[in-house]
Amino acid sequence: MGFIDVIKAKARADKKTIVLPESMDKRTFAAAEQIIKEDLANIVIIGTPEEIAEYGAGYDITGATIIDPFNDPNKQKYIDKFVELRAKKGMTPEKAQEQMEKDYMFYACLMCKCGDADGAVSGACHSTGNTIRPALQLLKTKPGISSVSGFFLMEVPNCDCGENGLFVFADCAVNTDFDANKLAEIAGLSAESFKMLTGAEPKVAMLSYSTKGSAKHDDVTKVSDAVAIAHERFPELCLDGELQLDAALVPEVGQLKSPGSPVAGYANTLVFPSLEAGNIGYKLVQRLAKANAYGPVLQGLSMPVNDLSRGCFAEDIVGTVAITAVQAQLAAK
Ligand code: ACO
Repeated sequence: MGFIDVIKAKARADKKTIVLPESMDKRTFAAAEQIIKEDLANIVIIGTPEEIAEYGAGYDITGATIIDPFNDPNKQKYIDKFVELRAKKGMTPEKAQEQMEKDYMFYACLMCKCGDADGAVSGACHSTGNTIRPALQLLKTKPGISSVSGFFLMEVPNCDCGENGLFVFADCAVNTDFDANKLAEIAGLSAESFKMLTGAEPKVAMLSYSTKGSAKHDDVTKVSDAVAIAHERFPELCLDGELQLDAALVPEVGQLKSPGSPVAGYANTLVFPSLEAGNIGYKLVQRLAKANAYGPVLQGLSMPVNDLSRGCFAEDIVGTVAITAVQAQLAAK
């Protein structure tokens, strides 16, 4: 059974309600049909009758709940919630209504916030920024977390590194600027995400172009400072750094460069030192090693909302909905 089949089985065992706000894209309907057929989640699609007729034609989405954002009996409740949450930012009922009708991702996040859905998935036809901004503004971070970050669950074929080829790579999607504190927090969240999705124990490598002081630069110091903060904040976590990628993944190199480290050579959770490194790194592995890259999955939000790549297939939406449903199961505990 591959990684995604295990996640689908978990999603099926305790069905959650997931909103798909992109009714202006056929892939949403193809995915919804598949999700309903596989019994993975209760699906809500936000769209007008015209959008549903135009883009949903030919797909069997019997069983999905359709919310027309212009004629929804619950709409006033969502407008009130929007104003309550954003009054200090100048939100008014008129602006709230306009925003929700113009951008259904706001509608989806308000449904989550009001308890009418457990999570949302979008991004097949919206940029990462536009997909996650409503979640950052309305759902906010979990208690004790300062920043949302984005990881990919990488499934690398024929690979004996990591957890039989399974890895978490982070942050590959969200934070354009991070200091040592944020990097340490990303490490803690990524370890939790790895454990949640794979069931295996995380071994976290804080990546750099230096291993244990082999190079000196502010960029290296940022990572070694993050290691010290992470050890203090998550003393139980199996984490080491700063490590070069080969020292993190290859046992002989790891033991040569960082002797005695429990992580060097065996890392399964890779924390990159910048968004450039993380984003380029996951795409390299996806393209050259033909890895499955599930994500970006957001971590640190109070409720699960996930992004898609604009080049995604309907099958990717199905997988992301299953991951979101499993995140929602754990958030409910
Ligand atoms: N965690 C938590 N909250 C955040 C974060 C974060 N990482 N970033 C911003 N916020 C909050 C802000 O505090 C603010 O809250 P407020 O309105 O209540 O005060 C709100 O979100 C909006 O903040 P802005 O700074 O206005 O956010 P902005 O829209 O400029 O940027 C964003 C946020 C969209 C995440 C931005 O950092 C971004 O574009 N990141 C890069 C995304 C990207 O392009 N990734 C690469 C592609 S992904 C891929 O290849 C699969």
